[in-house]
Amino acid sequence: MTAKGKDHILIFDTTLRDGEQSPGATMTFEEKIEVAELLDDMGVDIIEAGFPIASQGDFDAVSEIARRAKKATIAGLARAISGDIARAGDAVKHAVNPRIHTFVSTSPIHLEFQMRKSEEEVLEIIAATVTQARNLVEDVEWSAMDATRTSVEYLSKCVDAAIKAGATTINLPDTVGYSVPNEIRDMFIKVRENVANADKAVFSAHCHNDLGLAVANSLAAADGGVRQIECTINGLGERAGNAALEEIVMAIKTRSDVLSYTTGVDATMLTRASKLVSAVSSFPVQYNKAIVGRNAFAHESGIHQDGMLKNQETFEIMTPQSVGAGKTSLVMGKHSGRHAFVTKLEELGYKLSDNAFEDAFVRFKDLADRKKHVYDEDIEALVDEKIATAEDRVRMVSLTVIAGTVGQQSATLTLDVDGEHKTVQTIGNGPVDATFNAIHAIIPHDATLALYQVHAVTEGTDAQAEVSVRLKDEETGSSATGRAADPDTMAASAKAYLSALNKLEVRKQRGRAFSAPEQDLDREARRGP
Ligand code: KIV
Ligand code: ZN
Repeated sequence: MTAKGKDHILIFDTTLRDGEQSPGATMTFEEKIEVAELLDDMGVDIIEAGFPIASQGDFDAVSEIARRAKKATIAGLARAISGDIARAGDAVKHAVNPRIHTFVSTSPIHLEFQMRKSEEEVLEIIAATVTQARNLVEDVEWSAMDATRTSVEYLSKCVDAAIKAGATTINLPDTVGYSVPNEIRDMFIKVRENVANADKAVFSAHCHNDLGLAVANSLAAADGGVRQIECTINGLGERAGNAALEEIVMAIKTRSDVLSYTTGVDATMLTRASKLVSAVSSFPVQYNKAIVGRNAFAHESGIHQDGMLKNQETFEIMTPQSVGAGKTSLVMGKHSGRHAFVTKLEELGYKLSDNAFEDAFVRFKDLADRKKHVYDEDIEALVDEKIATAEDRVRMVSLTVIAGTVGQQSATLTLDVDGEHKTVQTIGNGPVDATFNAIHAIIPHDATLALYQVHAVTEGTDAQAEVSVRLKDEETGSSATGRAADPDTMAASAKAYLSALNKLEVRKQRGRAFSAPEQDLDREARRGP
């Protein structure tokens, strides 16, 4: 029994109430309004805006959300206490569709230790509090806290009492995330069979994720007759959280062949909602989170990337666009194959000859082995550097730099000069100076350093350093700039210096071999900065 037909599932979002109960997820008044407006726009049916008795701030937020909501029903939570119910009624009264959501514990353990009340006393409380709420608003939801650890017999009596008192929605929560799918489905089937007036209310599931089963349990509950699912954006909520709204919505949408339900949620707004809730709650979304995690539509393995390039459906069951997530990303990493790399190069506007491609691919794999994330900028830097150095006659073979606070900084450098390896060890005033002195020791030249600049191409401590070096040839007056990128700043510095030097030399006299240093390398090496 729902307003929208038997297969329509009402989405009840409790991000602003149960979600906000996550330790550390407190939101400001303005943030709550922003989240509520987005939820309303995306087609959430019921927004539980807060717990009005909890604080003046909660009351004000619920009340403002109630005034602003365009379509959604606005619910305020209340314990089975007269003052709570009055306060909740007051907070939601300006909503187009106001709801009071009142709850009481029903399980033996809660009755004994938390409530210290008998089953009969709780039945009386249910009748009295639901009646009070129903006198304030037409739409009353009653919840049996810890329902899944309550006997079906007693739970049925409670539900009967709540419906008789006027509850229009009956929520049977898996408060401690203890249930499993078959069990929760059977619980709903049995309670609905036991209660004579069950068809007078919409049954609702509210599942916690302590065993990672919140979404599965919610969908199983739908199989048991539930037509309202309570959930939160990003699965935010007490302890391990609640069922994730985005997962419920997309499971129903993607598997409509076996889940014959609909929801009114505009799935293309899911990513936006996830980002907003993550930002205002300061709860990061785990990278591999279903639907909204940053890796949800990212593929790194060569086999997967190859499949995706041939047909997206090989490894994607829904499109990123369907959840508002932009486009599929083929993450370039050590598992990426040639197919993905050539596609990425084309995307970045490069057309390389077969040899240049093979060379770039080998160097890309080498970089991916050393670096966790290979971004587009890394690939550009890698290819650009190669293009710039294709004609170089001096290349770096190896570099070892000793830096730090103890002892003098030194560099041991081996260069390939016209096919001949030359090695030198130099000291310097810092690692960069030691490195440049080493180059000078192997290739004596008159050029002076006019610019030295380092910046990180991408984020993170393993980012590629991109170094620019400008050298001025004092003899001819011309300058040349060399750029190089490498996760090692010293290696990038040496390569950039050599690139500039190569350019100057090519400009000066193409074809003239570099002269090996005349002087004793050891003596040169000891030359200070
Ligand atoms: O988990 C729970 O039982 C609740 C109720 C207040 C509905 O959040
Ligand atoms: Zn809860």
